[in-house]
This record gives sequence, structure tokens and C-alpha cells, in this order.
Amino acid sequence: MTSELITDIGELRTLDPREAPGDAAAAAVVRHDQALVVEDGRLVWIGTRTDAPDADVRTSVGGRTVLPGWVDPHTHLVFAGDRSTEFVDRMAGRPYAAGGIMTTVRATRAASESDLLTGARAIVDGAAVQGTTTIEAKTGYGLDVATEERLARIAARVADVVTYLGAHVVPDGADRDAYLDLVTGPMLDAVAPYAQFVDVFCEAGAFTPDESREVLLAGRRAGLGLRVHGNQLGESGGVALAVELGAASVDHCNHLSDADVAALAGSSTIATLLPACDLSTRAPFAPARRLVDAGVRIALASNCNPGTSFTSSMQFQVATAVLQQHLTLEESLAAATLGGAAALGLDRGDDAVGSLRIGGPADLQVLDAPTAAHIAYRPGMPLTVATWRRGVRVPAPVNPVRSGSGR
Ligand code: NIG
Repeated sequence: MTSELITDIGELRTLDPREAPGDAAAAAVVRHDQALVVEDGRLVWIGTRTDAPDADVRTSVGGRTVLPGWVDPHTHLVFAGDRSTEFVDRMAGRPYAAGGIMTTVRATRAASESDLLTGARAIVDGAAVQGTTTIEAKTGYGLDVATEERLARIAARVADVVTYLGAHVVPDGADRDAYLDLVTGPMLDAVAPYAQFVDVFCEAGAFTPDESREVLLAGRRAGLGLRVHGNQLGESGGVALAVELGAASVDHCNHLSDADVAALAGSSTIATLLPACDLSTRAPFAPARRLVDAGVRIALASNCNPGTSFTSSMQFQVATAVLQQHLTLEESLAAATLGGAAALGLDRGDDAVGSLRIGGPADLQVLDAPTAAHIAYRPGMPLTVATWRRGVRVPAPVNPVRSGSGR
């Protein structure tokens, strides 16, 4: 069992909720001149650099900033194909609609399992290099039993949490009622062994609130936790449904009535906001400030997918939430760590993620910056220069463009 001392930390943000019970943002307190000791995948010591104990390995971060690894609670990263043409059309004024999902479904059904696995793994590895240490992945680009089961199997190999999203859209040519029977019957049976959550796209062009309730209750009967895609394109009823059923999370939340905000504030459902998706679909930003001011607990996620948000960068979400959605840096950091953990139900017990605390998983990142404020102050810069996941240093990326002999 090798121990590693990570020292010369200029700014440390532990995000330990015990330091500020009930106020996630306050947990982002700054400590200077710190060190950590990692052993057997966990943090065994945190304190002032000059008090640090000996360890087998000593790593100096040279005065840089250390944060918990990001927790990304919403991705659709198992897919094939490209939708850049749809993106370009959108930038030229065509609105986003749920129908584009079928483009990815066709490409995904045609892809081999090994190509899908390679693509998914590349996204997860790329996210880890950028500081993400816990990531969720949804199915939802198969929409038949065999492909949904394949996507779930792949997601379980690369991601920490798997969500079943057979109810993404009714596939072209399918009978609506028959498809709902499939999603709540044989497809659910095939995917549930790999999944922890069930999700539904509760939106015009996808599923109504009543259909969504049916999907979610079937998932609950199969032992899955609940998540909802809600209120992305309009006031879809997804938020109200998520609160009614006690879902762990309702994601998107671009169009919210006062009643939606009040319902979320009185619930344990996390509002998961997806800033890159809002930009990429030219949607009104989810009202992050309004939600936080109302007492709603929020998370930030990348929503990495080929249709609405082809980025795995959590740093980009944090910067955008500060620059465009008027969160403080502390609120934004908390939403991208503790918020994501809560949205995934990974915020309790010894293995809780999203914070740095003695006994907890050694999931951390080093920013090449003297303060965490540089995330928003220097948006778009690749600030994460090292990541430890469960105590293991994430390897540097291999350049996929190889130099040959010159011929
Ligand atoms: O979360 N909104 C629904 N699902 C994805 C987009 C899927 C797609 O367009 O491919 C999302 O944005």
C-alpha cells in the first residue's frame, strides 16, 4: 500500500459539506499552503503543508490550486455518428427539435459494439483529463431492445452510473402504445441489470407527462431511481412530475413557472442545469440565479451528446454558469461537485464523491492557476493539469494523430 503526499497546494477548496452544513457554496472555503495524503484510493490526511506526515511518494503541485474532481451527472456518451450539420443549421436559425435524436439512433444501431465502446471510452478518458472523476451515462440512442441493452452494457463498463433512457423518443415508424409497452416491459427487463436509474424525455415531440409517469413508475418497480428530462423546450410538466414522484433529479429546466420553482424548492429533487446545451441549442439559459435564490439545490452537467452539447468539459459549465448565469464561483463549484453527487445519490456514506475529506475517495484535480477563480477568469483555457481518480493519477492523453515516416 503506497502512500502519496500531494503538497505545495497554493489554494485548496475541499467542498466538504461538514464545514458548512446546509450551505454547499459555503463549503467552497479557501485554504492556503495545504497538503494531502492519499493511501489506498482514499484521503488519509489533509492539513497545512508544514505539518504534513511522511509518505512513500511526494508530489509537489508548485503553489497551484487543488479542487475535488468534477461529478458530471448527465451525459449521453455512448453513440455513433456526427450531427455537426444539424448544429450548423441551428446556428443559422433552425430551432432544436427532439427529432434529431433519430439521426444518432440510426448511426448507433449500425455501429459495432467495439466501436461504440472505443468512442465512449475516449469521451470518459477525455473528461477525466479535464478533471471529471465521476460520470453518469444514459442509454437512449438504441430504442430497440438489443441496442438499448448493448448501450447499457457499454455504459456500465465506462461510467460510474448508468441511466436507462429507452423513453428518449418514440422511434420513427413505431406504434406509440406498443413502444411504451416495450420500454416499460422487455426493454426495461433487458437494461435494468446494468442501470441504477430510469429517465424519460418529458417534452413536446417526446413523451407526455402521463406517459412519462408510466415509464418512471415501471422503472421504480424494477428497482431503479428516477431522473427526468424536463422543461427544456417549454413548460412540459416534467419538473412537476419529477417533484411529484420524488425523482433524484430533473434536468434542463430552461422554462420554469413560479410554481415549478416553488415545487423544486420544497423538494429533494435536484435541478440539473446544462449550460453548454443551452448555448448549443440557443435556448434561454436555465434560471440558475432564480433557482438558487429560491432555495433549490442545483447541479451542473456537461450533457455530453452529439445533438445538443458535444463537450465533456465541466470547467466550461462552471465558467458559463458564472459568466452567463450569474452564479458565484462558489455556487458554481459546489453545483459541479456536491450538486452532481446529490443528483446521482452519491452524496452519502464513506464513498460519497464531490468533496475532499479524510476517509473519502481521493478524487481531485490540480489547476494550473493560483486560484479557482481562473476557471471563469480565463474561460476556455485547459487549466486542469493533473487528475487523481480513486487515488490513481489519470494518465496524460495519447495524441491520436501519430507521426509516421514522412511518406
Ligand atoms: O439531453 N433532450 C434530450 N436528450 C438530449 C439530446 C439528445 C439529442 O438531440 O441527441 C439532451 O439534450
